[in-house]
Amino acid sequence: MSNTPKLDHVGIAVASIDEAAGLYRALGLPIEATESVAEQGVRVAFLPAGDTRLELLEPTGPDSPIARFLDRKGPGIHHLSLQVDDIKTAMTELAAQGYELLSDEPQSGAHGSLVCFLHPRSAGGVLLELTQPAAATND
Ligand code: CO
Repeated sequence: MSNTPKLDHVGIAVASIDEAAGLYRALGLPIEATESVAEQGVRVAFLPAGDTRLELLEPTGPDSPIARFLDRKGPGIHHLSLQVDDIKTAMTELAAQGYELLSDEPQSGAHGSLVCFLHPRSAGGVLLELTQPAAATND
């Protein structure tokens, strides 16, 4: 990984973005954008918070990974996302060092980003997401 990754966002599983939005509005963090990501089975809302963002994740159906998370653990922090310049290189380097990725190829994330997750058992109990923004250049 060339540059130091920055914390892109903290993912929070919620049953309903609309219900959760009230708390964050009260905290002065309005929702910037909402989007459905079919490939992940979620509707997501981003809330800018300084140099990073919160990502509220609402399941779009019972088979959504977020629905299963809510069933098992209830609402709460779901993942941390680190922004990388070149997700494929990052994935290759991590896999070569024995870290367990949840997919062999980057997946489609919100806003045209590419994402990939490290398995929590391979990352100290934390679900870690790597994200390469759509507009990222590899310079
Ligand atoms: Co995320």
